[in-house]
Amino acid sequence: MVETPLRSKSYAGQAGRRKGLVKAELVGLTSIKKEDHGRRTTTKIAELDRVLGGGIVPGMSILLAGEPGIGKSTLLLQLADNIAGTVVYVSGEESATQIAGRAARLGVKNAKILVLEETDADSVIASIPKDAELVIVDSVQTLTTRDLTGTAGSVGQVRECANRLTSFAKANSVPMFIVGHVTKEGTIAGPRVLEHMVDTVLWFEGERRELLRVVRAIKNRFGPTDEVGIFSMGERGLEEVSNPSQLFIGQAGKVSGSVITVVLEGTRPMLVEIQALVSPTKLSLPRRSGTGVDARRLELIIAVLGRRVGIPLWDYDVFVNVAGGITVSEPAADLAIALAIASAFHDKPVGTGIVAIGEVGLLGEIRESSQLERRLKEARRLGFTSSLTSKQELTLSALVRKAFVS
Ligand code: TYD
Ligand code: MG
Repeated sequence: MVETPLRSKSYAGQAGRRKGLVKAELVGLTSIKKEDHGRRTTTKIAELDRVLGGGIVPGMSILLAGEPGIGKSTLLLQLADNIAGTVVYVSGEESATQIAGRAARLGVKNAKILVLEETDADSVIASIPKDAELVIVDSVQTLTTRDLTGTAGSVGQVRECANRLTSFAKANSVPMFIVGHVTKEGTIAGPRVLEHMVDTVLWFEGERRELLRVVRAIKNRFGPTDEVGIFSMGERGLEEVSNPSQLFIGQAGKVSGSVITVVLEGTRPMLVEIQALVSPTKLSLPRRSGTGVDARRLELIIAVLGRRVGIPLWDYDVFVNVAGGITVSEPAADLAIALAIASAFHDKPVGTGIVAIGEVGLLGEIRESSQLERRLKEARRLGFTSSLTSKQELTLSALVRKAFVS
């Protein structure tokens, strides 16, 4: 059940009093002043500006969602350090002392960051100074309003508190970041219920054990939604990764089982290394295990390799991994996955300076990927001079023969 606050008594009777109604104003569409997003404040974090669409717009509410421990508080504290005016950091998660400790570790020195240890949403709103240039609420799941009975984190509380905060932000033209936790299993009273309320939703992703972090805009009223910001978690907080390809290509192509492909992250082409290991097994149901690749896609590619290319994998375990902890969901990576497995099976490297890009069909055909030229351009930029695509061979079996059997 979701609680709903009652309107105050003085308000409740008004629906019946039709006489006193004030008419709303109608405005001609073409005479309305256009919204001006020109006045943006840069976060001075290029990767964050990129996902925001160029910086922060006045009154904008931004939901930053992600699993606990992924780096949300870290990123926002680093951002707070870059703002010239007053920043209010509302903390219901951690004590002021804990935040000060993290700030010291991160080298955050901005004296204009004010910490507010408070979990009552109305008190938070009442405490924000007039001159605040940015408000950070960490996290929405810790806030409550006394107008509702539910506990902190319940759907009703989360929704109502966020509603009050975003209304405040809009009315006072103060931009506001709201942190929302999501759990691995999905979301309980999580950010999903807030998505329609805020202007922008940023999704913070990454494997906690790995260093890579990706911030993805999944909704943005003031910018594109296909952009990503890429960071790595270092000793001193989140560092920008402006050239992600270099991060992932390692030993690629030199050893068997390693093939490079180019995926598109948002509008950005990115080189990633697909690694495969093929090992004989006595299991009646051999293992097919993928990290960072879709399990069903992997099954399909293995089946195509068996039936169309003639690589007998039924008594082999197959492990596929995307280096660097990133997740590849594009079919454009199919060919690299298939070639990495074939390379591991034949124990022959595919060779250095080569990228493989293409979708693999059920008939064993190779299909051209979208924006191929763009991907190849990025590959060339990083010194990859050869490519394996549908332009070289139309079928996977021909390509595998050429690469490993000759
Ligand atoms: P945090 O920002 O607290 O995550 P969230 O707010 O999303 O829950 O990030 C915590 C993790 O980041 C923690 O596991 C430690 C790590 N970390 C670093 O590796 N380097 C750093 O400089 C900082 C501040 C944190
Ligand atoms: Mg936190």
